[in-house]
Amino acid sequence: MDLNTIERNETDSASQSAAAASAPAKKVFVKTYGCQMNVYDSQRMTDALAADGYTATDVIADADLVLLNTCHIREKAAEKVYSELGRIRDMKAERAAVGREMLIGVAGCVAQAEGAEIIRRSPAVDLVIGPQTYHRLPDVLARVRGGEKIVETEYAIEDKFEHLPQPKRAEMIKRGVTAFLTVQEGCDKFCTFCVVPYTRGSEVSRPVAQIVAEAERLADAGVREVTLLGQNVNAWHGKGEDGMEWGLGRLLFRLAEIPGLARLRYTTSHPRDMDDELIAAHRDLPALMPYLHLPVQSGSDRILKAMNRRHTAKDYLALLERIRAARGDIALSGDFIVGFPGETDADFEATMGLVRQVNYASAFSFKYSPRPGTPGADMPDQVPEAVKDERLQRLQALLLKQQQDFGLSLVGCTIDTLIEKPGRQAGQKVGRSPWLQPVIVDEKAGEIGDIIRVRITKTGYNSLFAELA
Ligand code: SAH
Ligand code: SF4
Ligand code: F3S
Repeated sequence: MDLNTIERNETDSASQSAAAASAPAKKVFVKTYGCQMNVYDSQRMTDALAADGYTATDVIADADLVLLNTCHIREKAAEKVYSELGRIRDMKAERAAVGREMLIGVAGCVAQAEGAEIIRRSPAVDLVIGPQTYHRLPDVLARVRGGEKIVETEYAIEDKFEHLPQPKRAEMIKRGVTAFLTVQEGCDKFCTFCVVPYTRGSEVSRPVAQIVAEAERLADAGVREVTLLGQNVNAWHGKGEDGMEWGLGRLLFRLAEIPGLARLRYTTSHPRDMDDELIAAHRDLPALMPYLHLPVQSGSDRILKAMNRRHTAKDYLALLERIRAARGDIALSGDFIVGFPGETDADFEATMGLVRQVNYASAFSFKYSPRPGTPGADMPDQVPEAVKDERLQRLQALLLKQQQDFGLSLVGCTIDTLIEKPGRQAGQKVGRSPWLQPVIVDEKAGEIGDIIRVRITKTGYNSLFAELA
């Protein structure tokens, strides 16, 4: 997953609560950075705020409350937040000049990592709230309106998922036929480059009953495809309906029983947690899409060890062999870091070699970004920026070629497509292939939510064109 390019506004207008019906509704503008878990959290914050009388807006200047849901994974991601805060501060001043308030909140992983430092650097910020405490948002806002500045980054002992309100059905329907569902949060793996264990805390798995209830509500609102989310989603292990502990494979079998849910996915996985039951789910569950995001980061054992990934390149390749034996048409995706401290030319060539061997359908690759507080940041032999640049370019060229070849290999094939939304051009609709590619079809090919059989006619840069089979 490309954690830096998902940057979207929560434009869905939330339904007005009864309390807000008399007074003019307050408006919230939410901007989301980072991974899909932040996308999910932004929706849930919007839901919590709807219960507090806020409707969502996509016009920032109209907002009584601006919330930035931030990402700390790389330096660039974190710095973006401060430049955005500068812009918003000016809007706040413009609104204040005409006697209107604009509260500014920072949520997400930068909030968790930097806490009060954010208000020190950007005094216009009114509240800073970490990802574990979103259920407290209405209380926090009440205090902020009373004139306090609040930094709320203590991990709550209670489970945020139990306290966050669910959206109204009408709101769910507006959100479309695909949905994210966070089942696991946090990470105990401590890869030496990564901030996630510090920003999201230790691993927590939601219980099966909670997940099934949420998935049933989604299905009831017309959702056809659910992507289960977790920083380490395949390490999910929760209390089952029989009181026993279940793993992700078993959970997938259970979710596949829900009427209406035709497609299941999960992301992001760690190679160490691909167990037999999960691989069996890929073999036996038609609803589980044949696409797996399984980051490896590097093809060099020396670097993998320094990263604390706790597997070798050979382990990873052997695992892929088992997965491919279970599901022949599975397509692989991955994440890579180039220029981790100590990475030599030979280490980088090992990564290129592994990529050639695996043949990825898509992948994301990044220059190593030293993150404060992680062991990698203090390691000797940091790689010069120019070397990172050159390696990234070579790796991305190879990955792009593989992605395009994968698209081309589908031309002439007949595949299933879930129709998701109207196309950008008149007369078109956009669907999604089993391998996550956008599929452009004639708008008469089917209705949104339909799964249709199409024949691929040609490829675009990142999409497929198709006609009804
Ligand atoms: N839990 C997932 C990844 C979460 S972070 C896993 O274990 O694979 C998503 C991706 O961001 C990582 O896979 C990694 O490729 C990249 N990333 C994380 N920290 C980074 C850093 N300090 N510099 C560059 N890329 C990083
Ligand atoms: Fe970060 Fe590693 Fe945890 Fe993934 S497994 S979130 S890379 S520490
Ligand atoms: Fe970024 Fe936090 Fe996700 S650091 S990648 S938003 S878990």
